[in-house]
Formats: sequence, structure tokens, C-alpha cells
Amino acid sequence: MASWSETKRRQGRRIAFVPTMGFLHEGHLSLVRHAKERGDCVVVSIFVNPTQFAPTEDFTAYPRDLSRDNRLLQAEAVDVLFHPPVEEIYPTGCQTHVEVETLSKPLCGMLRPAHFRGVATVVTKLFNIVRPHAAIFGEKDYQQLQIIRRLVRDLMLDIEIIGHPIVREADGVAMSSRNAYLNAEERKAAVCLSRSLRKAECMVRRGEASAKAIIEAVGAEIKNEPLAIVEYIKIGDLETLDEVDEIRDSAVLALAVRIGKARLIDNKVLIR
Ligand code: PAJ
Repeated sequence: MASWSETKRRQGRRIAFVPTMGFLHEGHLSLVRHAKERGDCVVVSIFVNPTQFAPTEDFTAYPRDLSRDNRLLQAEAVDVLFHPPVEEIYPTGCQTHVEVETLSKPLCGMLRPAHFRGVATVVTKLFNIVRPHAAIFGEKDYQQLQIIRRLVRDLMLDIEIIGHPIVREADGVAMSSRNAYLNAEERKAAVCLSRSLRKAECMVRRGEASAKAIIEAVGAEIKNEPLAIVEYIKIGDLETLDEVDEIRDSAVLALAVRIGKARLIDNKVLIR
């Protein structure tokens, strides 16, 4: 991988990189298409990263289908599918981590305390192997995107981080590899996340600025769905993610909801 990148760099080619954990869907493929527009060649990694899963989480159960993923990426004419084994990314004796301290604490970091350390560490390793000029991340994982932006700035990495809008199913549900955990009834229930975000958007458009009022309305909307259990609903600053009481110009509404075995996240940038 590294020598391929070195050759491309010497040829003056711009490398665009899309890191993933595989079990690809249209959301991932949309990032890949964006990468093609932003670079001369595209690298996609598929690596289910053990360090971002807690021992109680779904690392072994996480859906995998490498041959299907490979076909999908070939159809997109991706230059490289990088699929390293775990022991190559984490050789024995490995003891260095990357932690983006403050940004990793709220939202998903509250219930998954080591999650973003695992993400930041693996993304740094992947960046150092792939040596991309640009990397594309989905806004679906809004907190992750902000953490990567901060990491690149803090470690002075010369990589352009490009955010890509959330890709949704026709009924509004954000695409996710973890939607595979939902049965038909739970999949229907999952619509409550995006429905509640749209409700929040309408409230803001009508002039509501109070974070408390919006969060209450979003919570009420989700509670209408008996299969859904709210983990968090928060409104925060676009960059720092610090909670805000009032939406001045814009803020991000982020939520995590459990439905069946799946933990689903979604978000929307609210603009006044
Ligand atoms: P994964 O969940 O496979 O997602 C890979 C990339 O696809 C992420 O940048 C994510 O935000 C984006 N993505 C997923 N669903 C999307 C959707 N519906 N619309 C737009 N983008 C979407 O995120 C990870 O993997 C990992 O944490 C990783 C960054 C690879 C580190 O292990």
C-alpha cells in the first residue's frame, strides 16, 4: 500500500482516501464517488477496527462481506481496496494511542468512553500508510468528523478532510451497516430518528431557538415509537460540540437511539 502511494505521489497524482469498516452501502459509495471527483486516484480501506469496540460491543458480530464489497468497489473503478489484517495494524507490543481529548467526551463518547480513541488511532495509522492528500468522511458520524478535523490540525497532518452529507433511504432512515441488525418491524420503527430531526428543523424554521424546547419535542416524537429507547438527544456547537441553550445562527442536533440490537445515530445541522 505504502509503496503504491509513494509511486503515485512521485507521479504528482492526488490520492483521495475513504476509510470504512466495510459491508458497504450507498452511503459509503457516495463517499467513494465524491473521492473520485476530489482526487486522481482513490483508495478505500476496509478494516473492522477492534480498538473502537468495547469488549461488550459487536466487534465479532459486525457484518462483513468482503467479496460483495470488492465487487461494489470494482464497479466504482476504485484504484485500491486496502484490507489489512488486524495484526498488521496492531502488531504485538503496540502501545501508542491517539486521543482527541475534549471532543471525544460528549455524545457517543459518554457511553463509549474508549471508542473515539480507537477511531483516532486507527485513522492516524491508516493516514500514515495510505499517505492521502484528501480523505472523505460522512456527516452521518458528525462527532467522528469533527474529531478527525481536530486531529489533523493538532498533529499538523497535511491532509484535506472533506465532509460528505448523510445519505438516506427513501423513507429518511440514514444508511448504516448496522441497519442489518434490524428486523422488518424494527426497520419501520427506525424512521422515528429522521422524522424527529425533521420536526426539529420545522420548529427552528418557525422561529424556535430554545434547545430545551426542541430536545423535548424530539424526545416526545421518538417516545411515540415503542421499540425506540433514547440514549441521548443533544444540541451543540458545530465545531466544539459544547451544548448550547439557544440556537443563534446554527447548531447540530445529534441523537443516539437503541432499537432492538442496533444502536442508531443520526444528526441534523439546524440553521436559523
Ligand atoms: P463506517 O461506519 O464503515 O463508515 C465509513 C464512512 O462512511 C464514515 O466516514 C461514515 O461517516 C460514512 N458513512 C456511513 N454511513 C453514511 C451515510 N448514510 N451517509 C454518509 N456517510 C456515511 O466510520 C467508520 O466506518 C469507522 O469509524 C472508521 C472511520 C473507518 C474508522 O475505523
